[in-house]
Amino acid sequence: MERFDYIYPVRQHFGKGCAESAIKEEMAKTGKNVMLAYGGGSLKRTGLYDRIRSWLEECGKEVTDFGGIMPNPTYAKVQEGARLAREKKTDFILAVGGGSVIDCCKIISAQAMVEEDIWDMQYERHQFPTKFIPMGAVVTASGTGAEQNNGAVITHEGKKLKQPLVGAYHSFAVLDSDLTGTLPMKQVISGAFDTLSHCMETYMGQPQHTNLSDEINEAVMRNVIRNLRALIADPDDDFARGELMWASAIAENGLLKLGKVTDFQCHMIEHAVGAYTDCNHGQGLAVIHPVLYRHLIGYGTEKLARMAEKVWGIHPDATDGSQEDMTAAMAAKGIDALESFIREIGLPVRWSEMGITDESVLRAAADTCFLTADCCRKFTRDEIFEMLKSVM
Ligand code: NZQ
Ligand code: ZN
Repeated sequence: MERFDYIYPVRQHFGKGCAESAIKEEMAKTGKNVMLAYGGGSLKRTGLYDRIRSWLEECGKEVTDFGGIMPNPTYAKVQEGARLAREKKTDFILAVGGGSVIDCCKIISAQAMVEEDIWDMQYERHQFPTKFIPMGAVVTASGTGAEQNNGAVITHEGKKLKQPLVGAYHSFAVLDSDLTGTLPMKQVISGAFDTLSHCMETYMGQPQHTNLSDEINEAVMRNVIRNLRALIADPDDDFARGELMWASAIAENGLLKLGKVTDFQCHMIEHAVGAYTDCNHGQGLAVIHPVLYRHLIGYGTEKLARMAEKVWGIHPDATDGSQEDMTAAMAAKGIDALESFIREIGLPVRWSEMGITDESVLRAAADTCFLTADCCRKFTRDEIFEMLKSVM
């Protein structure tokens, strides 16, 4: 194991039906002025907005409403939230939603405490915020694990960039599977695939030899695959829903990353495509993963072969030839299994299935995405473009 230093600040309230008691318990520790932040309309449609607002009022809070946070939250929305938080002297931000609401709040919390533009601060002066408005997250769409970390992915429309910014940790996360019951199955699936992607990107990071984090990771990947299949078969399967919620949290709470340098090349490419197309995150990842991994054969072959065996249940086949040929064949069969799983759960494997047919978008994404070097192969921009084009 490589050296690490692990401290984890997010309290977890997990369990079906835990939301009311968890929120009320947490509200006893916060100031009076609470910003209730949420997305584009589902919260009101499902009735959850009224319930949460009444819990906050029962706790004696002055509630400021901040709705309309869109999927793939924009930098302009961050600025709107920060202005409102300053104006209302917000003591605490309660983010209720999926990754988009939760991420947007992380940066509102930081931007409200500094005058300077937080994007320029981080990307031009390489300084990071140290003061934040305290926050908590109530998860209504699981998968990103955004409630577990202090990174946020924000779309800067002016700059045509969708990139990470450093924000605050939420002091608590409410993981009540009842709150995700209204999520359309399409979003459940893309969220769960996002979790699987986080696991794979972590697993394929350095070091390539398997450590304890990787072995835990294999169990999380198997769990996500099994429970997603169960939930698609029976959307009332609360056990599967809860398992997926916790798997999503585990994939992003740092545990699987201990002793590893993670590689998130697939994510970096997807975010760049997202900056140009506003596409669904999990769907974009589904298109990129198989083709990206086919280009890792010959570089991270042994790790891919191990993933094939431990996650997809593929065994070595002596008819494939020498030991080296057998390992390469296993790696390839594992990627085939991943691709058939993507098709089985109804996610896309080509850009055209997502309505992305303009090659220039893929060129722009390849030209602007972050290039990572922490897996087993560093790609050039041209290689990434060719890869993306091959799955038009
Ligand atoms: O906006 P509303 O009307 O609320 O509808 C949302 C949205 O349209 C809907 N929804 C959420 N909960 C619901 C519900 N509909 C019915 N019932 C409910 N209970 O779901 C739609 C998608 O929501 P969104 O938050 O955008 O989805 P997701 O959780 O997948 O988040 C995606 C964002 O997270 C970023 C992505 O890049 C993307 O911007 N990520 C953040 C990460 C992080 N901070 O660690 C890691 C990820 O890799 C990811 O990049
Ligand atoms: Zn993701």
